[in-house]
Amino acid sequence: MLNFDRHRRLRSSSEMRDLVRETHLNKEDLIMPVFVDATIKGKEEIKSMPGIYRFGLNAILDEIKDIVDLGIKSIIIFGIPDHKDDVGSGAWEDNGIVQQAIRKIKAAYPQLIVIADTCMCEYTSTGHCGIVKDHHVVNDDSLVYNTKVAVSQAKAGADMVAPSNAMDGFVAAIRKGLDEAGFKMIPIMAYSVKYASSFYGPFRDAADGAPKFGDRKSYQMDPANRLEALREAASDEEEGADFVMVKPAMAFLDIVRDIRNHTNLPLVTYNVSGEYAMIKAAAQNGWINEDQIVKETLVGMKRAGADLIISYFSKEVATRMNEQRW
Ligand code: PBG
Repeated sequence: MLNFDRHRRLRSSSEMRDLVRETHLNKEDLIMPVFVDATIKGKEEIKSMPGIYRFGLNAILDEIKDIVDLGIKSIIIFGIPDHKDDVGSGAWEDNGIVQQAIRKIKAAYPQLIVIADTCMCEYTSTGHCGIVKDHHVVNDDSLVYNTKVAVSQAKAGADMVAPSNAMDGFVAAIRKGLDEAGFKMIPIMAYSVKYASSFYGPFRDAADGAPKFGDRKSYQMDPANRLEALREAASDEEEGADFVMVKPAMAFLDIVRDIRNHTNLPLVTYNVSGEYAMIKAAAQNGWINEDQIVKETLVGMKRAGADLIISYFSKEVATRMNEQRW
């Protein structure tokens, strides 16, 4: 008699498969990115990200209404300013585009969790995420300015800040800045493990945030490194991060799993612009089944250990969930 395991018993019907499914994606897991642009009225589609738009201040609430109506509970907001300078003042002025948008959104939708991406690359004339001196991104000066960004976002009413500037000590500096300004209760979602990745290409087109010289390799991580990711996440946790993030997601799911096994903080992964663009492009060519691929991709991130996923697919996924097509 043959002796072997019958794994297929638990796959015999869709009801049986439902019963033994280990990983679930919930609507609460999704964070939708939103781009607000000081230079436009209405909305403009981002060429390399079909279905994703930049919104003028006058149109932002239409998009937020859509997101809220779908049942999505949180957004992360990015700004495109109408002026750039050496110190990225558009990122931390009271009347910066993100600050204005946050005030507008929170006034209309107080329950929506509004997370502000805390960075300078869209606002500096150099396109770098901090202060540049002699063609070098100076760490500690950059901390001072990124802290100003975070505090101004909290003042505008952001529920959380998500520093993505990748400077050493950014969590410690921002935590101190927020506390001193009276924002002890505003959490920090740290882009702890942020690789220097070409998967950010479409985002940089969308937000006009590409570096004008050099690259980000002196502050974002080498994709070849794994132990360094653990050190980065450990530093942020020690400095007081409330969430840690791994970004990008698809090529880094091993890192998501590693970090999951090393931290008790909620873990976020960012399904970035290039990942979105690749799936959209293949789907538009009829080469893949978009719905199925998106599902596999996002469920894979959860299986790897992510609690939350920032994804440009969030609205589409929520729509499918609402229509019982998930
Ligand atoms: C800002 C920032 C970037 C992304 C999120 N925050 C760009 C970068 O680091 O170059 C990328 C997001 C995406 O690609 O979807 N620093």
